[in-house]
Amino acid sequence: MAKPYPSELVQRVTLRDGARVVMRPIRPEDRQIEKEFVQGLSDESRYFRFMSALRELNDTMLNRFTQIDYDQQMALIAVVCENAQETEIGVARYVVNADGTSCEFAIAVADAWQQRGVGSMLILGLVEAARARGLQIMEGIVMAGNHKMLGLMNAHGFSIRSEPGDASVKHLTKLLAVSPTDAPRISKSAAADVN
Ligand SMILES: CC(C)(COP(=O)(O)OP(=O)(O)OC[C@H]1O[C@@H](n2cnc3c(N)ncnc32)[C@H](O)[C@@H]1OP(=O)(O)O)[C@@H](O)C(=O)NCCC(=O)NCCS
Repeated sequence: MAKPYPSELVQRVTLRDGARVVMRPIRPEDRQIEKEFVQGLSDESRYFRFMSALRELNDTMLNRFTQIDYDQQMALIAVVCENAQETEIGVARYVVNADGTSCEFAIAVADAWQQRGVGSMLILGLVEAARARGLQIMEGIVMAGNHKMLGLMNAHGFSIRSEPGDASVKHLTKLLAVSPTDAPRISKSAAADVN
């Protein structure tokens, strides 16, 4: 069953170059900006994201990408606002796997906004959302030649391994259980709550 819009995941973020971005769960009303976002990606970015020569999202894909239940699927978009008009500059999503405890991610950032921290922001947001949902593993398949993505995910603690029998892709995995380095931060804030 669909969950209510998770407004606790809405965040205003200032990028390191000062640009202001809102990261928020996608809504059905975001159909048009999602469509324009994918259309505006370079051929290479679109290929790395969809692993096919897809040029634009068809209606079925647009429905699937924007009408999510915030439970089995989550999508965080990054938007900038100019003249009261929102433009989508990135999206990261996960879909829960059949095992109910792991999920598969996908991410894309508009070419003009790459290398500015948007990808990191979206991955961090997605990992936190998956943890809060109680998921234990985040995984995904990335083209072996997608060095930007492999570097980014390595920096965020994803382990990278080859796919047996397919040298063209890599399998990325991150355990979402709280790591020992997170523990002191969490126990400190928990302590603050009880005092
Ligand atoms: C891969 C992609 C999402 C990265 O988005 P981005 O907004 O450029 O990412 P960021 O600006 O946050 O990070 C980019 C750089 O910072 C590095 N970085 C980010 N966070 C870091 C951290 N905490 N510590 C160290 N390095 C970090 C990354 O490794 C990367 O550096 P590199 O390119 O020199 O290796 C983007 O290039 C893209 O959309 N590509 C097309 C679609 C795609 O490939 N999707 C993946 C398959 S689903």
